[in-house]
Amino acid sequence: MKALVLAGGKGTRLRPLTYTTAKQLIPVANKPIIFYVLEQIAAAGIDNVGVIISPETGENVKDAVGDGSRWGIKITYILQETPAGLAHAVKTAREFLGESPFLMFLGDNLIQGGVEAFVRDFAAGEAGAFILLKRVKDPRAFGVAVLDGRNHVVQLIEKPKEPPSDLALVGVYLFRPAIHMAIERIKPSWRGELEITDAIQELIHMGCPVEARILEGWWLDTGKKDDILEANRVVLDEFARRDVKGEVDGKSQVVGRVEIGEGARVINSVIRGPVVIGSGVNIIDSFVGPYTAIAGGSHLERVSLEHAVVLENCRLVDVEHIEDSLIGSNTRVVRAGGRRRALRLFVGDDAEVVI
Ligand code: DAU
Repeated sequence: MKALVLAGGKGTRLRPLTYTTAKQLIPVANKPIIFYVLEQIAAAGIDNVGVIISPETGENVKDAVGDGSRWGIKITYILQETPAGLAHAVKTAREFLGESPFLMFLGDNLIQGGVEAFVRDFAAGEAGAFILLKRVKDPRAFGVAVLDGRNHVVQLIEKPKEPPSDLALVGVYLFRPAIHMAIERIKPSWRGELEITDAIQELIHMGCPVEARILEGWWLDTGKKDDILEANRVVLDEFARRDVKGEVDGKSQVVGRVEIGEGARVINSVIRGPVVIGSGVNIIDSFVGPYTAIAGGSHLERVSLEHAVVLENCRLVDVEHIEDSLIGSNTRVVRAGGRRRALRLFVGDDAEVVI
């Protein structure tokens, strides 16, 4: 069994962050999303992994992920010249995949509990494909499936205006090589992409059984800012533990599950978990509330924040009270001196400032 991780695409809904980084590299609880994906693949016993990358962010992904040895897997990078759809990505990886069955995992999806049982069930059975589904309130932004009474898929539609069920396609799929023939037979959708949803529907037309499993645990599709904050909240809730490596002075209070990295300093501040603080971060005269992740190298002074993600090397000084916020790397948010209350902004394209 091989695995194919999709880390290409444009990431337009996460601009401006995705002008400089791949969306799959945005950290959740201070760890890039794609790392969770690769951990789960390794835990399912798959060690031969292809990673689809784009010309724009491929080098960033390679630098961050490396050759896979840290997870005990071997990674082959596959360049997809244009983001022409999930089925197009599979087509691009045709040579790497050969005649092997494979797990396809979208590099911006996080699921609870891993994929081991799903992979085991598929390997033991005969189905041409397995899809993973989750019941959601509003499935219009996803692929949607209709099942018969025995978990066989009878219909699949991509982003329907009127969803025929509440079962959304989670970005985890298992295929046998018949999928390649189905991909050859489909045409681009209304949004100009070769959709994997259409290829699976084609498999069903070809008489190949497609089975579904319904995920009971959480599923996070980290497409937009609020999804990242929600992913951060859920992952911190589940995985944060108390681990204080940095320095905490006698005037500070660190409450609950708080991770503080090497070389970090907490001075005259209150940190209320679950929180992760990266290495080398300074927190001075500040309050850091629940569900916050602060990446390495940032400096916070006279700040209060909660339910926020702060990426690397930011400088936040004299700002009350930041919440529900996602702050990109190397950002400065500071209060100007003097009596005039003015905002002086130097904000990148597609940014959002809510005052
Ligand atoms: O997240 C689950 C949904 O993912 C499913 O419910 C849908 O059926 C499926 O089509 C997909 O929909 P999205 O519109 O959310 O897909 P998105 O364009 O965000 O791409 C998903 C991942 O695949 C993302 O990490 C980028 C990567 N990608 C995407 C395209 C279109 C590629 O590597 N190459 C591509 O050509």
